[in-house]
Amino acid sequence: PVVKDIFGLANLEEKIRKAYGLQKVVVIAGDCETSPLIKRELGRAGAKALLRVMQDGDVVAVTGGSTMAEVAEQLTPSANAVLKQSWFVPARGGLGESLEIQANTIASGMAKRLGAGYSLLHVPDLLGKEAYQSLVHDPNIHDIVGMIRKARIVVHGIGDAMEMARRRKMELPMVEDLQKDGALAESFGYYFDEEGVVVHKMLTLGLRLEDIMKTDIVIGIAGGKSKAKAIHAVLKFGHEGILVTDEAAAMEIVSEL
Ligand code: BG6
Repeated sequence: PVVKDIFGLANLEEKIRKAYGLQKVVVIAGDCETSPLIKRELGRAGAKALLRVMQDGDVVAVTGGSTMAEVAEQLTPSANAVLKQSWFVPARGGLGESLEIQANTIASGMAKRLGAGYSLLHVPDLLGKEAYQSLVHDPNIHDIVGMIRKARIVVHGIGDAMEMARRRKMELPMVEDLQKDGALAESFGYYFDEEGVVVHKMLTLGLRLEDIMKTDIVIGIAGGKSKAKAIHAVLKFGHEGILVTDEAAAMEIVSEL
């Protein structure tokens, strides 16, 4: 039965990889929404995928979220990998979510586990126009934003649009707009519809869409049946290279192909 399971997962990986033209897809067994152990496995697979592509000297930008927190937790360098000249940065400002799952916490946690360096971005995830204008000219913030925008690797979570709107305490009229526009997914502050078109973005400092489009390696990590539509939307956007997901999400995605 084990061999059959592995074969089944490999099959899912290949179907998704082909359908969206990805470089690599990793599918772990189970549904991470039903068990913290499976979420941990998803984190472990995400950490492995990152280590496989990381080179010393890389700048890696990471988002927040509970999945990314698991990835950080599971990051253990392989014996022969020297990554001490690497640098971790949060993809965007992240104050607003609870400390444990903010991008800053994840960036510093990953750096510590690998003996690498990190810089933090101490600004809220969502900025008003005035705050944005004054912060964008601050020299320290300017430096780190510059570093974020030239990251060679971006590692990010993917969320259901409505769930993320709720988590970010978005005001009701805006939530209604999102719904009207058919937003299904949220990732790095952008909301995507079924076709992968950006229907809303949050004014924030850090990684922009045009930076993602130029990034060498983009790794998305998300699982759970309820995230299938969101994962599909982000894959349709078309700038993902590597997807790490679970069986529950993968089955759902494949059933819609
Ligand atoms: C956020 C990321 O912090 O986490 C988003 O900025 C992502 O890109 C979200 O959509 C996913 O969170 P979780 O907890 O479902 O992994």
